[in-house]
Amino acid sequence: MGHQKNIRVHETAFVTSAFRATDENLSHDTFARLWQNSKTEKWIIEYLKMVSSEEPFTHCLRNRYFLDEINALVQKNEIDVLINFGSGFSMYPFLLDKKLIHIEIDKPEIVTYKRQKLEHWQQENVLAKRDIHFIGVDFTSEYKSGLITKLNAIKGNRPCFILIEGVLFFLNREETNDLFELFKTVQNSGDYIGSASFQETIKNTQAFKNLLHFFNLKVAKTSKDDYQTIDDQYYTSVPNYTLIDQQDYFSLSKKYDHKVIKEKTLILNENFYLLKKI
Ligand SMILES: C[S@@+](CC[C@H](N)C(=O)[O-])C[C@H]1O[C@@H](n2cnc3c(N)ncnc32)[C@H](O)[C@@H]1O
Repeated sequence: MGHQKNIRVHETAFVTSAFRATDENLSHDTFARLWQNSKTEKWIIEYLKMVSSEEPFTHCLRNRYFLDEINALVQKNEIDVLINFGSGFSMYPFLLDKKLIHIEIDKPEIVTYKRQKLEHWQQENVLAKRDIHFIGVDFTSEYKSGLITKLNAIKGNRPCFILIEGVLFFLNREETNDLFELFKTVQNSGDYIGSASFQETIKNTQAFKNLLHFFNLKVAKTSKDDYQTIDDQYYTSVPNYTLIDQQDYFSLSKKYDHKVIKEKTLILNENFYLLKKI
């Protein structure tokens, strides 16, 4: 008998939120802590021990980077809609100006659960009201034409920012290409994509080896493909888009005055990309 896989892919969203909650000064996410629960706390203790103790900070800085970039574009009136692919339990709607329209896309069970929880917290006045549309979709299924119709109906021709963070690791290249193809279809010139992924070279680090070991042991995956890494070249050659910014944990640590603790090989260094449609 193999090890029992006790974490499902969509449940990794709880882990991401819990990491963001560990340093609110760094993440600027004051609502992530709402998702805390004892099951996640248990996984986190194991994860930090088995994978990398620097993980809370890499997640805090990822949130901070995208939050600040999106916020700057909202302030300049460059975007009206934020479309979050694989949105999990991220709390951008409550951290950004209320005029923004949000479209949150994730697996059906995640968006149903999130909607219920948000409505509950709104009734309790823990969260403010926001314009949020939820769409349940599995990116490994036949979803494209239905999703394009729904997105166009909600956003019309309004300028948008598409965010995809913490997701591509779980998808294969074909599924990723399909998503970027869809982004091109729904976006207009001047619209933005923010994406997070690991580069191929991370496979040589101890932290990534630890991560794969942890996932193979604990996380029930939907397909048997390897976890995906993506090189810079993928982003510099997305048709109709230009890469306008690229960061990683180390550059963001400098930018936000965060002290890196561990040596490089013990850190899961994720890369962050901003693309603009030509
Ligand atoms: C690690 S969480 C990240 C959540 C969120 N983007 C964040 O940064 O807080 C990964 C998310 O991707 C979603 N996801 C993974 N594979 C997916 C798929 N095939 N279709 C839809 N969503 C998927 C999961 O349900 C989960 O919410």
